[in-house]
Amino acid sequence: MLGGSLKAAFAAALLAGSAAAIDLDIKDEQSIKDAAKTIASSTMSYYANRDSADIPGAIVTSWWEGGLLFDIMIQYWSLTGDDSNNDAVTEGMYWQRGSGNNYFPSNYSSYLGNDDQLTWGLAAMTAAELDYPQNSSMLTWAMLAENVWNVILSRWDEENCYGGLRWQIWPYQIGYTMKNAYTNGAFFELSARLGRFTKNQTYVDWAEKIWEWSAKSSLLDVDTWKIYDSTNCKDNCEAASHIQWSYNYGTYMTGAAYMYNQVSSSAPKQNNGGSQANNDKTDGKDKWKTALNGLFNTSQIFFPEKYGGKIMSEVTCEPQELCNDEILFKGLFAQDLSLIAQVAPYTESNIIPLLQGSAVAAAKSCTGGTNDDLCGIKWYKSEYDGRSGFEQQLSATSILMTNMIAFGKQAPATQATASKPASGTSTGSPSSTSNTLVIKTDNADKDNGAGVLSGGPVAVVVAVMAGILYLI
Ligand SMILES: *[C@@H]1O[C@H](CO)[C@@H](O)[C@H](O)[C@H]1NC(C)=O
Ligand SMILES: *[C@@H]1O[C@H](CO)[C@@H](O)[C@H](O)[C@H]1NC(C)=O
Ligand SMILES: *[C@@H]1O[C@H](CO)[C@@H](O)[C@H](O)[C@H]1NC(C)=O
Ligand SMILES: *[C@@H]1O[C@H](CO)[C@@H](O)[C@H](O)[C@H]1NC(C)=O
Repeated sequence: MLGGSLKAAFAAALLAGSAAAIDLDIKDEQSIKDAAKTIASSTMSYYANRDSADIPGAIVTSWWEGGLLFDIMIQYWSLTGDDSNNDAVTEGMYWQRGSGNNYFPSNYSSYLGNDDQLTWGLAAMTAAELDYPQNSSMLTWAMLAENVWNVILSRWDEENCYGGLRWQIWPYQIGYTMKNAYTNGAFFELSARLGRFTKNQTYVDWAEKIWEWSAKSSLLDVDTWKIYDSTNCKDNCEAASHIQWSYNYGTYMTGAAYMYNQVSSSAPKQNNGGSQANNDKTDGKDKWKTALNGLFNTSQIFFPEKYGGKIMSEVTCEPQELCNDEILFKGLFAQDLSLIAQVAPYTESNIIPLLQGSAVAAAKSCTGGTNDDLCGIKWYKSEYDGRSGFEQQLSATSILMTNMIAFGKQAPATQATASKPASGTSTGSPSSTSNTLVIKTDNADKDNGAGVLSGGPVAVVVAVMAGILYLI
């Protein structure tokens, strides 16, 4: 995840507005829907106006952001019932699946990281779990997610650091020697979700294995419940950058919540007699409850007491105003919290107030632009902070729409409960696991490859901050 963003798209709208913020009554379902629709629409306007608008789903210099956009927009559709963006979402989700049906399209594959591909795999997973409409002449969403999983698995690296995934895929990429939390956490999450969805034990076993490796490496500290951002093959992954990002917690916590929710046919069924009985069936594995609780507790650093303890803040970059693509992490984290509240319902009473406090503050920040609907970065300011952008808008969409889980939520489906497409099977043969390297030499394509080699502003900022925080 490196590169630019869509900042140019709405340059004309940067003028700060001073008019009314988005009207939001957090206890009122319709009010949340209306606010979410306003912000989701402006998010999709950024998408429609991007540089690569002629290619469905492609955000060329930040390809991973497309996966994240669609993941959030699919959940937005499920929670609000608003399908007005579905045509664009469906078109993009299918266009970018690539010839291998595994979200590794040859236009971009020469410079993608494992984490980039995983964001699309997780989007396909969300589509499967939420019964998002699928085209019966295509592979099912679950099969697309399984195909991503199989390619990523083929890159599991036992040669260095006794296991784990590298951040990047190709040796010439900056970050190839690193093994980082988000990449391994997202693979853990995808494994846990596929395990719950398909009931195929292979995924559950791998989720266990990825978790155990993470805990053995310096990325996941199961004593302090801290997640550190990255580590390096060069010292056998012994030292870690102690930099703290919300999305790292989000992805490991989501994986743990889905592991907590796995139902094995031999397990004693728990039934609390309430309306959530279906959600609460679990093997009752204390291991995952302990992990989820421990990480959740530590993740409260992203809700600083000095802002009241209920407003999400990306504490590593917001104070210094250094957040760029990282602006999206809050959107990811909000989505993760909403999934956790649904598959581990005992957490709901702790999570809802955090989603509510953050949404109320975020909505107050949305007074930018000529239409007074562009949101800022620092939600805790409860006013627009002067920097609008696609990432801000998408994170605000996420924090607004996830508040819908307080009203008649429904746990993500499994293969057994999801409706079947008209034709097509729900299990399939995974695609080839080979990494096909396509190097573009044509200068006309230099846009495609330039992102990583030039580093981009985000890479520099992250490296600088990693260096600073490494010392803490
Ligand atoms: C790959 O690039 C070509 C040429 O720009 C474009 O037509 C095609 O839609 C792109 N494919 C994807 C998956 O982005
Ligand atoms: C489903 O996909 C096929 C193959 O790409 C396409 O021809 C068809 O128009 C699609 N159907 C719908 C309803 O989009
Ligand atoms: C379980 O998933 C793995 C990985 O995709 C696959 O190789 C295997 O065939 C699946 N098993 C069954 C019984 O479907
Ligand atoms: C929760 O986290 C704080 C530090 O953030 C720590 O001091 C405390 O011991 C943790 N509590 C539990 C129950 O893990």
